[in-house]
Amino acid sequence: MAKRVGFATRMGAIAAAVGSAVGLGNIWRFPYEAGVNGGGAFIIVYICCILVMGIPVILSEFIIGRSTHSNMKSALRKLSPGKKYYLFTYLCILGSFVVIGFYSVVCGWIIEYLYQAALGHLSGHTPQEYSDMFTSLVANPWRCVGWTVLFLVFNFMVMSRGIEKGIERVASIMMPLLFLILIVFCVKSLLLPGAGKGLRFLFYPDFSALTMRGVLDAFGQAFLSLSIGISCLVTYSSYFKDDSPLTKDAVTVAALDTLVAILSGVMIFPAVFSFGVEPTAGPRLIFEVLPGIFQQMTGGYFWALLFFLLVFFASLTSTISLSEIPITFLIEEHKMSRPRAIAWTALFTFALATIAALSFNVLDDIKLWGKNIFDMMDYAASNIFMLLGGLFTAVYVGWILDRKVIHDQLTNGGRLKGVLEPYIVFCLRYIAPISIFFIFLYLTGII
Ligand code: PFF
Repeated sequence: MAKRVGFATRMGAIAAAVGSAVGLGNIWRFPYEAGVNGGGAFIIVYICCILVMGIPVILSEFIIGRSTHSNMKSALRKLSPGKKYYLFTYLCILGSFVVIGFYSVVCGWIIEYLYQAALGHLSGHTPQEYSDMFTSLVANPWRCVGWTVLFLVFNFMVMSRGIEKGIERVASIMMPLLFLILIVFCVKSLLLPGAGKGLRFLFYPDFSALTMRGVLDAFGQAFLSLSIGISCLVTYSSYFKDDSPLTKDAVTVAALDTLVAILSGVMIFPAVFSFGVEPTAGPRLIFEVLPGIFQQMTGGYFWALLFFLLVFFASLTSTISLSEIPITFLIEEHKMSRPRAIAWTALFTFALATIAALSFNVLDDIKLWGKNIFDMMDYAASNIFMLLGGLFTAVYVGWILDRKVIHDQLTNGGRLKGVLEPYIVFCLRYIAPISIFFIFLYLTGII
């Protein structure tokens, strides 16, 4: 059998995992979720989720992936021979398609805004015109589908270059660049008159604005943002080297991801308040509010272009990690060549993404519980697939997996101290399953 390739360096592997975690979830979704759920209060709940569930579940995915160097299905077969746990893989594959389906539509909008910014069309409008601009974009099936498909073409071009030359290289270049651009934006935003109000909104915990729904959103947001629950990090860590310190890597990924989310808030809210716009604009926040803000800044043309470029980078490194889940699965379980596995994955992704892109226009009368197809996919992805997946992963590693595998992976066969091991196991056994269980009770209306 051909030797399994992997990430060439530890830095490259971390860049890829951070690249997966940092994406639209941080820059597009986190600020608007914080905006509608009381700012600081949401952030506190969110950070608690990261500490008690995020880091432990990242580590459990790392343990499964790195100890077996295989995709989720054969990993579960190797770790629990003769048992049916591997069937869970199909839920992960389905989940990855649901995420990439709605996610790539937003990436398509990003390319449209990048294009409009390049043409200089994002300036000189009234707030109402910015709002109409976004409404007319989502109402146009050709533009929505066209940009989404173009984005996916970029995505699969990177995939075709493989793990080291494609994923690792793209992430290692784009991630530092992204941090740099983000910091420039934060400084720019903090220098605006009245920026303090935005910071206060973001960091002052107004618990009266946080509902049970908001708490649930914080959980879903943490799972989506950290890329956990659908075996993405199992797949990536299966390409990690045996001597990398998993605990340190997991904490680094979670910390950088949270930092980017908070910095995105620092970039957006001072500007939102300074220009007197509503912080509760929801999913349209970055599309309707930010262009209006850029045009009022000196050098607005440049800022708009840079911003949408930043979001484009961030989302591309996330979608490549999403598509690697089915690709690695098809290569290893169905013995396909990489190009063939890419072709099948691309086919399904194009189909699902097209349906999601059409759900604002041609298919907008298809609704379930008031949600169109796009909203349903978004909701199902983070509140069902990723949470269920997180529950399975936590219970599997916490209760079923041989404790020796956990110990070996966290200490690299006894060479590292593994001080966090008892904490991780405790969270996986009790905190994560109990919290997720309560979320499901809430979702089904039982509590
Ligand atoms: N973590 C990504 C984001 O915050 O945008 C989204 C994501 C990527 C979710 C990969 C799931 C995944 F497997």
